[in-house]
Amino acid sequence: MKNIRIAPSILSADFSRLGEEVRAVDAAGADLIHFDVMDNHYVPNLTFGPIVCAAIRPHTTLPIDVHLMVEPVDALAAEFAKAGADLISFHPEATRHVDRTINLIKDSGCKVGLAFNPASPLHVLDWTLDKIDLVLIMSVNPGFGGQSFIEYSLDKIAEVRDLIDLSGCDVWLEVDGGIKVDNIASVSEAGADTFVAGSAIFGGTDYKDVIDQMKKQIS
Ligand code: DX5
Ligand code: ZN
Repeated sequence: MKNIRIAPSILSADFSRLGEEVRAVDAAGADLIHFDVMDNHYVPNLTFGPIVCAAIRPHTTLPIDVHLMVEPVDALAAEFAKAGADLISFHPEATRHVDRTINLIKDSGCKVGLAFNPASPLHVLDWTLDKIDLVLIMSVNPGFGGQSFIEYSLDKIAEVRDLIDLSGCDVWLEVDGGIKVDNIASVSEAGADTFVAGSAIFGGTDYKDVIDQMKKQIS
């Protein structure tokens, strides 16, 4: 059975009780904390910075999975590494030098991922798949929680699954956006092993029930 991971996105959490919310999804069986960073430049929304990552760090021992939707990337990536991030993903279009940014994140002691928007091509993986720890496939256009899953993402997930399997590299395949209990099985069948869910989890009151149902759908 493949190793699967559920990553609640705190973008949909109650920001007035963020530490409590992180503890709650940790206790509910989450495997990662997905931390959506938006700069109102690369995406049309603004969220939180390294100071908030440092604030939630003491509330969980789970890996903090930082998703940088920012441009430029390098300076902020370094700050998030200092703030306690375990994994930092960025969009290749958002940096001038992808290889340099990958090395900067790895040299800061974090795992590194590349994030791809729904219509973004995958060809940068030709030269980087053996250097990264995670591929993040966006199944919504980045910037907001609560959007609908983009169905053609399933084909892209399958394509990345083939690339990873052919490469023999140990790379996680994370899917992000519009993941629900009723579609996670198809996303898993397409080849994903790591699943971001914001509104599906934080939109309800029983976090453990939703996470349990998601894991049941894909086990
Ligand atoms: C969107 C973010 C996603 C989002 C997921 O730009 O990257 O992580 O928070 O939220 P849901 O699961 O509600 O689509
Ligand atoms: Zn995200």
